[in-house]
Amino acid sequence: MTRGVIFDLDGVLVSTDELHYRAWQSLAQQEGIDFDRRTNDRLRGVSRMESLHIILEQAPRTYSRQQRLSLADRKNETYRALLEGIGPADVMAGARELLAALTERGISVAVASSSRNARLILERIELLDRFDAVVDGNDVTRAKPHPEGFLTAAHRLGCRPEECLVFEDAAAGIEAARRAGMRVFGIGTPQRLPGVRPLAAGLAEVTVEQVLNAGEGTLS
Ligand code: BG6
Ligand code: MG
Repeated sequence: MTRGVIFDLDGVLVSTDELHYRAWQSLAQQEGIDFDRRTNDRLRGVSRMESLHIILEQAPRTYSRQQRLSLADRKNETYRALLEGIGPADVMAGARELLAALTERGISVAVASSSRNARLILERIELLDRFDAVVDGNDVTRAKPHPEGFLTAAHRLGCRPEECLVFEDAAAGIEAARRAGMRVFGIGTPQRLPGVRPLAAGLAEVTVEQVLNAGEGTLS
């Protein structure tokens, strides 16, 4: 029985991937680090500092902890400047409709994101007030694939983990939801999320019946 639905933000409700890519690319260029879309794919759903760690694998020099924090800040400044350009039109197709249909059926809805910019993004796309709970990168000490974010969201919704269904586009998030004891609905392609079922290219393909009828044990 699904009583709560928890949405990842980036790549599920809004497509910020390109903005993250451009901000990391700008930092990599300034630092003379090779960075391409293949490396960028590894950053999906991963925290800011872990993303930086992956990017620095290609760095020609080493950085102290203080320098790494300053690199992460610099990337975030570029990213936040790019976020100024997003608005309600950037909400992924089908998201508003699915949220409305779930709310109408009495299902509680939450966001659980690794991003420390999640509230800013939700405000800009005018979805912040549509959720019963928002858990972001500032609310947790352990990022996905740790289950803390999803468990916190379920707790705030007043739901048990097994009553929750999670929409996720990143392997790290899918692992986090499973470790939280929740059912997962993958968003993306079979190439990017091999073996994940059920899977949809986007929320526009998901019906409220699929969410409601997703009985315990029928989703992996
Ligand atoms: C996730 C994104 O939602 O948030 C990652 O998928 C990103 O790409 C992470 O690194 C952290 O985001 P932020 O906004 O705190 O740097
Ligand atoms: Mg995501």
